[in-house]
Amino acid sequence: MKVFVTYKIPDEGLKILSQKFELEVHEEERFLTKEEMLEKIKDVDAVITQLRDPVDKEFIDSGKRLKIIANYAVGYNNIDVEYAKSKGIFVTNTPGVLTEATADIAWALILAVARKIIPADRFVREGKFEGWKPKLFLGYEIYGKTLGIIGMGRIGQAVARRALGFGMKVIYHNRRRLPDDIEKKYKADYVDLDYLLKESDFISINVPLTKETHHLLNKEKLRLLKPTAILVNTARGPVVDEKALYELLKEGKIAGAGFDVYENEPQLTPGLEKLDNVVVLPHIGSATCETRSKMSVIVAENVIDALEGKKPRNLVWD
Ligand code: DGY
Repeated sequence: MKVFVTYKIPDEGLKILSQKFELEVHEEERFLTKEEMLEKIKDVDAVITQLRDPVDKEFIDSGKRLKIIANYAVGYNNIDVEYAKSKGIFVTNTPGVLTEATADIAWALILAVARKIIPADRFVREGKFEGWKPKLFLGYEIYGKTLGIIGMGRIGQAVARRALGFGMKVIYHNRRRLPDDIEKKYKADYVDLDYLLKESDFISINVPLTKETHHLLNKEKLRLLKPTAILVNTARGPVVDEKALYELLKEGKIAGAGFDVYENEPQLTPGLEKLDNVVVLPHIGSATCETRSKMSVIVAENVIDALEGKKPRNLVWD
């Protein structure tokens, strides 16, 4: 049995796989071209993909022997899941292990934007710091404010848990209302999306990208935000109309935004990186050594399940 890994992942998972199967890892610091990718997967039984690999019909058709596509991510919007399923190929993801790391990055963005951490750091490095001044880099207080969470799954709940320490009021919007005990645990109130957008001081996006969530925050919805609102997105870029958000930020119609993901990743809406009221990160939500290692073990376990004839533990459908 042969396993192909489209971009090098941490060793822990690779070690497990190499003990059982023939393993080929794309080791170079460059992404494979589409043609190379189609060639590589022709004769493999399992492939470990990255969230930037478009696993479309052509990809799936090329993998004639494929039994499993194990995505090295919790999101799997890069995969044509229905088509894979129709071909009898398993699709798995890495849920659970990246929850805390991603919630930390959502909070890092909230804090960095609200307290102007990046421009303040730049100011010191540029030798402009002359001493304490009463109005130097005044930001937005976080304590006691309202946090609106869009998508109250594992990551949304981890973001909410951190908000308790900041004495915040938490409101959330989700496909389904959460059971009472979970709402109580996070002191979170279920509200409709428009209410959340109008009332929140900080908004964290934590929904997966699906047909339903594409441009969930379109121009019209974004206009509901308070002028003092700060929006952070650690989920998927296309959930927000990035161009519309950029216009609002540029015109100062909202206070700021933190991006870990982009609508046309890795491209940013031109000019976005020049704005002082935004923080732009290179999709590092799950980027801790611990989390990325655990993700590598999870993809390996799923591949083993599938190649040993079992139902993989993290199948994306049930
Ligand atoms: C995921 O796993 O979907 C994350 O976006 C990666 O950081």
